[in-house]
Amino acid sequence: MADIKHRDKICATPIVLIGMMGAGKSSLGIRLAETLDMPFRDADREIEKAAAMSVADIFEQHGEQAFRDGERRVIKRLLSEGPMVLALGGGAFIDDETRALVQEKALSIWLDVPVDELVMRVKKKPDKRPLLKNQNIDAKLQELMQSRGPIYQTARLKVDVSGGTHKDAIYRLLSALSAHYG
Ligand code: S3P
Repeated sequence: MADIKHRDKICATPIVLIGMMGAGKSSLGIRLAETLDMPFRDADREIEKAAAMSVADIFEQHGEQAFRDGERRVIKRLLSEGPMVLALGGGAFIDDETRALVQEKALSIWLDVPVDELVMRVKKKPDKRPLLKNQNIDAKLQELMQSRGPIYQTARLKVDVSGGTHKDAIYRLLSALSAHYG
């Protein structure tokens, strides 16, 4: 186990990763959880399990509002399950109720990545994300970042995870966490 300053304090509270599509909430979340020896959950995967259908199908068949309602319920349940690293979908923290709950029960971390890098990342898997379907990805991500940025900004911590490798990003996350509890 890596020697992580203030590990006990870090692991005593749920860590919730927020940010735009493509910021690395899931891929970094898995690695962060492994490094800290905490459970990992991905809110979108839990919504899919609960609904027995994919996020894309929920959007298509029931609409975004139904997805947001399910998302709120699932996150509430997950946050009652004790400390874990939890990756949220990009829009979850924008919901007032979900955000209030996250801020009450967890340490929120905004994974900040500039839009041009997000565009390159999400273009690799364009079908995975219903909000980007038939859209100019560049323009849509700019628009979302403009409206969501000020709300993401209210996260307890903000960590720049742009450039570099996953290992670099985990190092930055652990440094921010240790500094927070130091
Ligand atoms: C969304 C992001 C997606 C998923 C859904 C809506 C959003 O998750 O929850 O497609 O509103 O930004 P990722 O951020 O993991 O792509």
